[in-house]
Amino acid sequence: MASRYHEVYEGWKRDPVGFWGEAAKAIDWYKPAEKVFDPTEGVYGRWFVGASCNTCYNAIDRHVAGGRADQLALIHDSAITGTIRKFTYTELKREVVALASVMRHRGVGKGDRVIIYMPMVAEAAIAMLASARIGAVHSVVFGGFASHELATRIDDAKPKLIVSASCGLEPARIVAYKPLLDKAIEMSKHKPDACLILQREQLRCEMKDNYDIDYADAVARERAAGANVDCVPVLATDPLYIIYTSGTTGQPKGIVRDNGGHMVALKWTMDNEFGVKPGEVFWAASDVGWVVGHSYIVYGPLLHGCTSVLFEGKPIGTPDAGTYWRVISEHGVVALFTAPTAFRAIKGQDPKGEFVPKYDLSKFRTLFLAGERADPETIKWAEQKLDRPVIDHWWQTETGSPMTINPAGLGLLPVKYGSPGVPMPGYDIRILDDAGHEVPRGTLGNVVVKLPLPAGCLPTLWNADGRFRQAYLEEFPGYYKTADAGMMDEDGYLYVMARTDDIINVAGHRLSTGAMEEVLAAHPDVAECAVIGIADAMKGQVPLGFVVLNAGVARDSGAIESEVVGLVRERIGPVAAFKTVVTIKRLPKTRSGKILRGTMQKIADKEEWAMPATIDDPLILDEIAAALKGRGIGV
Ligand code: COA
Ligand code: AMP
Repeated sequence: MASRYHEVYEGWKRDPVGFWGEAAKAIDWYKPAEKVFDPTEGVYGRWFVGASCNTCYNAIDRHVAGGRADQLALIHDSAITGTIRKFTYTELKREVVALASVMRHRGVGKGDRVIIYMPMVAEAAIAMLASARIGAVHSVVFGGFASHELATRIDDAKPKLIVSASCGLEPARIVAYKPLLDKAIEMSKHKPDACLILQREQLRCEMKDNYDIDYADAVARERAAGANVDCVPVLATDPLYIIYTSGTTGQPKGIVRDNGGHMVALKWTMDNEFGVKPGEVFWAASDVGWVVGHSYIVYGPLLHGCTSVLFEGKPIGTPDAGTYWRVISEHGVVALFTAPTAFRAIKGQDPKGEFVPKYDLSKFRTLFLAGERADPETIKWAEQKLDRPVIDHWWQTETGSPMTINPAGLGLLPVKYGSPGVPMPGYDIRILDDAGHEVPRGTLGNVVVKLPLPAGCLPTLWNADGRFRQAYLEEFPGYYKTADAGMMDEDGYLYVMARTDDIINVAGHRLSTGAMEEVLAAHPDVAECAVIGIADAMKGQVPLGFVVLNAGVARDSGAIESEVVGLVRERIGPVAAFKTVVTIKRLPKTRSGKILRGTMQKIADKEEWAMPATIDDPLILDEIAAALKGRGIGV
């Protein structure tokens, strides 16, 4: 089939407002937009101004009313507990209504924030939908973040209520969530009114009198009382959620997602980009704490009337490298979305792909990979073992859906290994040099998007228009800065090479080395520090820390290094995967005092490097190389 991509993309370029106005017809509105796009509203304009809608209505109620009442909406498959729970659209509605009623009785209403700090249980998705139903604004915090990160988010979002659980389950350990939650609330200035706690049988927790509410009891009471909570109409431009993502400092950025544009954009991608039809089973093997989980575990598939799989487990070790194929065959998954790390992990354990033929993958059509650079070797391995298209695509928490992809629904274009595809409608992607001039095709530069950003992208940062402008819009006036470096080839395929800021990507998880440096610097014996991301065969990148100790510190440096590692785990969380820190005498700097992190990374990764002309003292780089060699790094 010839791809309709070029025709559709050109159609959007000719008439962006007409394009999104047409796409909006796939959503049910209480009141249509007065203006599809109003350039005078918000920071760079707003989509669907004047429209009113409800995201939960579109994700659940309209399917119940429209013939999908008995179709499965959500399948919770836990490869850790060995349990599977299934919810039809009717059953999901019942759960969501009961929880929405609990929330309302706790005083949560339109515009109030609800933090959701949960493991991969169905109740995490139910809490998101219940919040959407009553017009509240949810903020899901990934379970792998520790108390300090959670506290920062509590202080920024100021939630009325927190929904959490007693524990999360990692393959080798039970993660007690409640002590982390209690500590975060202790640390935060803002105190939520109450916490709703899901007790999991693997590890029950203590409940605080008159503060913690038992999730199951509260919901059961509402159900028994026959609670009914109608969907609350909100403006299309009202926030649906805030998701915090790493910025260049320890203060994470609160990405705001609106209700209207978000629904329109996601619904469009399900069909045209992922090539999935209503009624089919879609699986995003991510976590609800990440944007992929928001868009493609919860909202995208449900808005489209699909069945979504919410998976608790890992690609390997729960119990083996065949788990993904088991889930695909057991639930009839047609499309899987995951991070390349997951496939590198599977490939590492089952290089010959011997688990693949053990399962019936007859319904499975396409594998989608994103979140980090997909190395061609991994893509080719997956293509060969699965005998299906493997589609790399590129986006960010900020955009909420792909900026580039090879669009399965519009018809696949030829695959180019190493490229995450071509720009999608809404995205006029340009490559600029540092002075803001466009560079010729094939030349590396800053990847930017011409404003306005399309429907579904962040309109701003939570309570921080100024920071939004400064972080994304000021460096290249008229463009959104992605902070990725890359190039566009003659055929319009994008190649994404690296970040231009201090963000690193560890197992598809976005982390800030700046935030880690803040933690290292807080250790009393540390005078100076640097954190860089170095190559890792499985996780893509992992962080590596350097510390210079205060003069006169006589303690064993090994003990200090262990404390520093522990501090990052305690402050940021295990997800930082911060395991190595090297004590050095001094940091390499330019004469103006800038730490040469790029050169240190090249030494650690055994890449070719040139002595920076502006270096203060060239001998320091030999010291770094020797210190790394002592740890078996860069040799
Ligand atoms: N709650 C608590 N802790 C968590 C957690 C959670 N939700 N998720 C991860 N962690 C912990 C892990 O237990 C691990 O702790 P440890 O240092 O005690 O071992 C640490 O955070 C790092 O986790 P992870 O990056 O998942 O590494 P891993 O070694 O446990 O597993 C993979 C390796 C490849 C199996 C895993 O990284 C993976 O599944 N990657 C896929 C990436 C993905 O889906 N990304 C989503 C973005 S699209
Ligand atoms: P996040 O906001 O966590 O989704 O991270 C977004 C960042 O991950 C991007 O800015 C890129 O640096 C990186 N990224 C995501 N997808 C890809 C991809 N397909 N190829 C290369 N890098 C990617």
